[in-house]
Amino acid sequence: MDEKKKEGRYLRIYAQLVELLKKTNDPIARMASVCAVLHHKMDHYFWTGFYLLKDDKLIVGPYQGPVACQELEKNKGVCWTTVQREEAIVVPDVHAFPGHLACDSRSQSEITLPVYDKQNKLRAVFDVDSDRLQTFSNMDKVHLEKIMQLIYS
Ligand code: SME
Repeated sequence: MDEKKKEGRYLRIYAQLVELLKKTNDPIARMASVCAVLHHKMDHYFWTGFYLLKDDKLIVGPYQGPVACQELEKNKGVCWTTVQREEAIVVPDVHAFPGHLACDSRSQSEITLPVYDKQNKLRAVFDVDSDRLQTFSNMDKVHLEKIMQLIYS
């Protein structure tokens, strides 16, 4: 999918989510809706989900896609690096990311984003895996960051 077409899709999804998420302010319900919409509307979203930061652990939350690791090995992989750096990470090739944790060997590229609550506390990591290399760009990051702000709004 070319970048322009993808961007149009993100804009439509954002508008849809704004309406959908008005129904409840429960963050887990909102995370579940965000995963369902993105996973089914974006091409190559092979695994789409949240890891919740609880008691200094990353525990799997709402997701769509193949069965994933329940808890991520501490301080290893892309999600923990997102927690440590407190920034989104675009990984064009997961095999080239030192310590990458593969819940499914079909994953080829990945994007992760921190999710904050209203007090600006880090509460979760949003993770999308693709079955293709180089699926995600800065454009995905910009739009997904906007969507992540809806979870605790
Ligand atoms: N790849 C992630 C682990 C989560 S799964 O891929 C769903 C990581 O390296 O942290």
